[in-house]
Amino acid sequence: PEELLVTYKGVLYPSAVCCTETFQALDIMEVRKDDVFLVAYPKCGTNWVQHILNDLTSAVSKNKEEEVPPTKHIQMLEFGVPEKFQKIKSFPSPRVFTTHLNYDNIPKPVFGTNAKVLVVFRNPKDAAVSYYHFYNKNPGLPNVSSWDEFFQKFMSGEVCWSSYFDHALAWDKHMDEENIMIITYEEMKENLLGGVKQIAEFLGFSLPEEKIQSIAENATFESMSNKSQETHGKFGPILFRKGTVGDWKNLFTEAQSQEMDAKFEECLAGTKLGARLKY
Ligand code: PPS
Repeated sequence: PEELLVTYKGVLYPSAVCCTETFQALDIMEVRKDDVFLVAYPKCGTNWVQHILNDLTSAVSKNKEEEVPPTKHIQMLEFGVPEKFQKIKSFPSPRVFTTHLNYDNIPKPVFGTNAKVLVVFRNPKDAAVSYYHFYNKNPGLPNVSSWDEFFQKFMSGEVCWSSYFDHALAWDKHMDEENIMIITYEEMKENLLGGVKQIAEFLGFSLPEEKIQSIAENATFESMSNKSQETHGKFGPILFRKGTVGDWKNLFTEAQSQEMDAKFEECLAGTKLGARLKY
């Protein structure tokens, strides 16, 4: 039903977790120069990289307890009530924030300091399939009656946080900027240790090889889904569904696959990000 959704600046969001007052408060949030922002379109690997960032920042911070569930100190920027910004002020550095927001809606103060912005992308076909299952399993989102219906919504951007393609296009223009790094789901699936190293380097953290290795081992799908009840409560099994590359082949028809390839070409052909999102 419609009341599950709220629109802010033309974009749909789930009203169970998002409200206008928080969006307004975001525009004036205080950013520290050592804050880390994790940006991911929904279902592109937010919780995965959040877990890695939690372990990495805990390892370099004396003030952070290790092994706390990432949800304890990590905030989804656009979730919750505006009063939360008071609490966030007391979070130990380096703070980590996550968000699904499009580049244009990221609070401007984020780009005005030396804060690091790590952007995660995933190929749009797997992201769409993961999003479809999430829409139907998450009580905070409206049910969709069929994959075909969801596919059309995904293609036209009538989903929460709007169009995947708009996000990708917007980030492509900024991927070479200082303090912004893009990593993809597929790259991390292929080489998780390499991904963790790359992220640590980007953040300027120097950690012993064994520490990096143990962080990577704790971030496999198997390890995270085994602990998901503990870390994410009842959302655990919904969030950690399958964790593979290529699951789209189980749902896409040939026509849908071609339609998405055409859209991908139209939006991202010849772009640096497009080249990294091959599937
Ligand atoms: S959300 O709801 O937007 O925050 O979801 P998000 O965390 O971005 O994406 C969920 C998908 O990421 C998969 N996932 C993982 N894959 C590989 N390794 C690890 N460790 C991992 N953790 C989460 C998760 O299973 C969802 O993908 P699907 O395809 O649905 O399984």
